[in-house]
Amino acid sequence: MRVPLVAGNWKMNKTVGEALAFVSGLNPLLSDETRKRGWPEILICPPFTAVPAVSAALANTEVKVGAQNLSWEKKGAYTGEVSGLMLKDCGCEYVIVGHSERRHILGETDEVIGKKVRAALDCGLKPILCVGETLEEREAGQTLELCRRQTEQGLSAVKPEEIASVVVAYEPVWAIGTGKEAKPDDAEEVIDSIRDTMGKMFGDAAADVRVLYGGSVKSGNIRGFMVKETIDGALIGGASLDPEEFLRIVSEVLKTRVAPKDFGQGE
Ligand code: PGA
Repeated sequence: MRVPLVAGNWKMNKTVGEALAFVSGLNPLLSDETRKRGWPEILICPPFTAVPAVSAALANTEVKVGAQNLSWEKKGAYTGEVSGLMLKDCGCEYVIVGHSERRHILGETDEVIGKKVRAALDCGLKPILCVGETLEEREAGQTLELCRRQTEQGLSAVKPEEIASVVVAYEPVWAIGTGKEAKPDDAEEVIDSIRDTMGKMFGDAAADVRVLYGGSVKSGNIRGFMVKETIDGALIGGASLDPEEFLRIVSEVLKTRVAPKDFGQGE
């Protein structure tokens, strides 16, 4: 069973004080159903500096914490890097890998991203591998091919028995931070093709991999994506910075995808 995942990516936003104010705003708003069942799964990925504080503040809730990047090495002389072991030690369960801002602004290659996915798994973290095309690539008809290549290279060092711990996020670069989300039908087509690629790589195990949509998701448009069975949730940037808007998105997911009766401690 693929439990929907609603993941907030704060990017380079919020000081520790601001991050704690977010958690104080979020906690009283978490519905009993979400709290008891852990459905959908809720994840917040603060900047590194706020991870320990947010993780401690959320310790008694169902909300999970992740990071936005990691080193492909575990320790050593890598000035400025942060390893998966350190993130795990600070309470992270997930880590975003290969976000388009890291690919396009910071020059991360598919090879580097593949090594980071491997490092995340080696450190006991669940990687969220981001893939997605630029506007030029979409207009040139290269979307499916590009996402196939990014998926294959990002997951090249993953074993079939590990693949269920991996999450893939389809995030078209032109939709990120622009207010122009993809059409749900287009997202569905790309995600089905990503599933097909993973099926060829991992066989039946690929059916357990959650694939999210990301790019200008907000409470007003999440339903369009969640009615698609192939889309298992969302990776949310701007709209995850405000606790009320973030939880409106969670509650839309809850309304669109009904939790099975036997799920979690709620029953
Ligand atoms: P956005 O960002 O929701 O602000 O478009 C999404 C992301 O970058 O993950």
